[in-house]
Amino acid sequence: RTAVAHWLSRNRGIRADPDDVMIVNGTAQALRLLVDVLRADGVREVAVEEPGSLGVRQHLRPLGTPPVPVDGHGVRVDALRATGAHAVLLTPAHQFPTGVVLGGERRRELMEWTRDGGLVIEDDYDAEHRYDRPAVPALRALLPEHVCYAGSVSKLLAPALRLGWLLAPPAYRDALLDAKRLTDLGTAALPQLVLARLMESGDLERHLRLIRRHHRRRRDAMIAAIRTHLPGAVVHGAAAGLHLTITFRETSRKGAYEAPDTALAAAALAEGVKVHPLSWHTQLPHTPGLVLGYAASGTAEIAEGVGVLGRLVG
Ligand SMILES: Cc1ncc(COP(=O)(O)O)c(C=O)c1O
Repeated sequence: RTAVAHWLSRNRGIRADPDDVMIVNGTAQALRLLVDVLRADGVREVAVEEPGSLGVRQHLRPLGTPPVPVDGHGVRVDALRATGAHAVLLTPAHQFPTGVVLGGERRRELMEWTRDGGLVIEDDYDAEHRYDRPAVPALRALLPEHVCYAGSVSKLLAPALRLGWLLAPPAYRDALLDAKRLTDLGTAALPQLVLARLMESGDLERHLRLIRRHHRRRRDAMIAAIRTHLPGAVVHGAAAGLHLTITFRETSRKGAYEAPDTALAAAALAEGVKVHPLSWHTQLPHTPGLVLGYAASGTAEIAEGVGVLGRLVG
């Protein structure tokens, strides 16, 4: 917990006492624990970004998840107010899946919303991966009393480690600790000790600097392949993260695609190319699109995969 508190202070501008840090089995478990505690507190809905992660929405069940549209500045706080929800889940540093950063004015509006009683759940899932823009401070750094902050090693090291952290406002801490104790008595100590060593020795930071160079090359390869094979596609969120989202323009040029994106993703999978249809991450009607991860493939494989998509789009 001490190592995580230092890491968050160095990398995310969050001032936290080690006692404020709860170690969990990934953001997924942080969300499940929050669901239990919020339900017991009478909360019935957590608003979510639209588009927004399907996985996150699944973890939030059985709470209602009213969708709040995201535009070029992030979540629309006026639309959030209109839902009447008292809690919202946000990915402010790099919105999933659009890659938009929550802007300064929106942060101020959100601050006002929290002053009126709103609670933010901040999913800081890939904030450390950025290429063409400076670091974006965590919301938790601005609003420690109103933000439940969740992060994990899933995008830093590997999702299979199932290791993460949750920082909650004091009012929720005891209930969250109880929920964690009743779930599994605590996260395994050995991976925690390994992570603490990696964080405190500087090895994790060195590793991140190294993989950032790899990821940038992969991202550039993907953008180049999209220009070649899918010229009608619009690329979103390239400045940071580990994926690109593309949407298809409604034109008759090569790259336009008007059939359901689920059909395109299924056809790609049949050819060994795994992508998410944008529809998985939406609750409202939207233009067809795909979410394309680039972290786990080499540049040649990326070009080949996008080539397959180009052929399928026709
Ligand atoms: C945006 C987002 N954040 C977090 C998670 C879960 O992350 P973790 O591996 O830390 O449990 C998911 C996957 O469900 C996700 O889509």
